[in-house]
Amino acid sequence: MAKILENASLLPHNTMRIDAKARYFAEVTTTEDLQEILSSSAYQNMPRLVLGGGSNILFTKDFPGIVLKVSMRGMNVVKESEQNIWLKVAAGENWHELVMHCVTNDWGGIENLSLIPGTVGAAPMQNIGAYGVEIKDVVDQVEGIDLETGKPRVFSNAECEFGYRESVFKRGLREKYFISSVTLILSKINHRLNTTYGAIQETLTSLNVKSITIQAISEAVITIRKNKLPDPAVIGNAGSFFKNPTIDQLHFNSLKVTHPTVPHYQIDNQYVKIPAGWLIEQCGWKGKRVDDVGVHPLQALVLVNYSSKKGDAILSLAKDIQHAVLEKFGIELTPEVNIV
Ligand code: EPU
Repeated sequence: MAKILENASLLPHNTMRIDAKARYFAEVTTTEDLQEILSSSAYQNMPRLVLGGGSNILFTKDFPGIVLKVSMRGMNVVKESEQNIWLKVAAGENWHELVMHCVTNDWGGIENLSLIPGTVGAAPMQNIGAYGVEIKDVVDQVEGIDLETGKPRVFSNAECEFGYRESVFKRGLREKYFISSVTLILSKINHRLNTTYGAIQETLTSLNVKSITIQAISEAVITIRKNKLPDPAVIGNAGSFFKNPTIDQLHFNSLKVTHPTVPHYQIDNQYVKIPAGWLIEQCGWKGKRVDDVGVHPLQALVLVNYSSKKGDAILSLAKDIQHAVLEKFGIELTPEVNIV
């Protein structure tokens, strides 16, 4: 069975760098390991938390149950056609290393998702997305293990119920499944290159790229992210802290009167999405520091932890920001990060 630690610090396991403790902590490297833990009487009737790279989580207290750290490794091509490959990847693989592997092999589909921190298993959970692409666009199936019964189950793309930073694993089946692998469908030829997101085209031009390839797109995305987003290896953060909110057309029309240059994405003729980073910046929070925590100076959607050991400071900053945005714009911000 996997080694189980008691009162383990979660500091090395979350990119916000919060020093919370887990009552028990197990590094799960095989399905059998997990099934043994789940059936062991010592760990029954206690909360369970499945943890990937810890790049989308904020611990605000010690965890009173068992943390199951996803550490299964490996990937293999399970099917191939003239046009595509089906790549099955174990949940504990690092997401960006997977992207680099695909880019090097000229397998297309996830190059726009370069440099996103975290593990492969966590990616479908919140349907990671960036620069016009979401993982739902390339997921064939997801394998999970029922945390109650230990039984495996395969979820088709439709069964994952993907939405904007959402899936069934964050909603109806929250904390019910341990994702063990993800199978992606990637292109070998005729790649669907996505350069529609404004900054990509500009960056490709500034990098002097003549022919657009998946390698060039990956390089452009890495350049944009490095310029804008703080590296979690250097400064504690969990990427975008809030989701971009959706408002109705009437609300948007009145916002446009007071703020004619408001950036927005028209979802349909009823709803409009507004970048939360812009709202936060308008409220004067961009670059602000409150003791050991703050708002990133280059992207207001990212909350940063300079040196706080506890999650409360970030949570209280987040609440102040939510309050300010609600007061000024009548818009509610919802956290994207999982708060535990
Ligand atoms: N903006 C501001 N001020 C800011 C930040 C943004 O005015 O401080 C404006 C920008 O000028 C731009 C618009 O807001 O007009 C959008 O900004 P950006 O392109 O940086 O993207 P975003 O909507 O803030 C989303 C994702 C990111 C993803 C980028 C690129 C969410 C919650 N976040 O951010 O994802 O990398 O688009 O596709 O949807 C993450 O989820 O952790 C993440 C980093």
